[in-house]
Amino acid sequence: MSDILILGIETSCDETAAAVIKNGREILSNTIYSQIDLHTLYGGVVPEIASRKHIDKINQVIEESLRSANVGLKDLDAIAVTYGPGLVGALLVGVAEAKAIAFGTGIPLVGVHHIEGHICANFLAAPELEPPFMCLVVSGGHTHLVNVKDYGEYEILGRTFDDAAGEAFDKVARAIGLGYPGGPKIDKVSNEGNPEAIHFPRAKVGESGYDFSFSGLKSAVLNYLNSCEMKGEEINRADVAASFQQAVVDVLVGNSMDAVKKYGAKKFAIAGGVASNKHLRAAFEDACKAEGVGFFLPPPILCTDNAAMIGCAGYYEFIRGVRSGYDLNAVPNLRLGER
Ligand code: KG4
Ligand code: ZN
Repeated sequence: MSDILILGIETSCDETAAAVIKNGREILSNTIYSQIDLHTLYGGVVPEIASRKHIDKINQVIEESLRSANVGLKDLDAIAVTYGPGLVGALLVGVAEAKAIAFGTGIPLVGVHHIEGHICANFLAAPELEPPFMCLVVSGGHTHLVNVKDYGEYEILGRTFDDAAGEAFDKVARAIGLGYPGGPKIDKVSNEGNPEAIHFPRAKVGESGYDFSFSGLKSAVLNYLNSCEMKGEEINRADVAASFQQAVVDVLVGNSMDAVKKYGAKKFAIAGGVASNKHLRAAFEDACKAEGVGFFLPPPILCTDNAAMIGCAGYYEFIRGVRSGYDLNAVPNLRLGER
């Protein structure tokens, strides 16, 4: 059988990315233009700027990705593009680009769910990984505990009631003056802090026991900072960062391992930007080892937004016969498992 080559395109937030994936599992190229420096100035992603920068960069990023994979458009079997969820103006750039290439060349088009992409990053990192497995997706916009029953078949066991885990990292980082993006900065500064210095709450919400809530934790950190200020006490940023991070890690690991036990999962994976957090990775490694469960985690570059994961997810959709029409549109609130 001849190889199947997929061009992945990702523009849902602040990374303009393209990648070429061979047979679903092999990365031939993974080109990422990160706009983070632009948005740092404003303390967060500015949607209008993100869309404009995607337009500036998308052609260059795709050309670079094809060149470094040594692949021409004529070699491609499909074009996979993130069509949701995400920022509508940002998504539209990738979707319009993918449709234009598909229309101009006749190459099939496959719309991909961004979260499905994050989960599939694990297939790129671990060639031996096959469903079923359980996966925690923790990103700037999502916190989902997902039962991956088969390729493209997902059951959401738990989700956040309010802030996503990454959003909480970003907001707390801003409150303690670390700037954007907060996750990597809290990860780093907490190395010098004591995770037990301040006790922040670990919320239990929902009936399933697998849902999450981070807004109470964020408020507790803000209240702590305010009360220190009012009492004229000095704030130890590293202790606040480490204690906050520990509370997030405890809840993410606690709920996930409860689900692993209840469902008898044999394999557990993490995905999304927050999955590149060193403390979270170490905590899951220990928890899975103690439970005798196989643990899978993509390298940090495949945790944060990239198009390799979109190419991989697109491959599994493509071989199942999924095709999108030229009327494919950006769907900012697309739910996992929906088309
Ligand atoms: O998956 P991603 O790149 O974009 C979304 O789909 O949202 O995730 C970005 C999020 C941001 O909130 C960022 O602060 C967080 O991931 N993040 C981290 C780390 N690296 C990125 N959070 C905690 N620790 C990190 N090392
Ligand atoms: Zn993402």
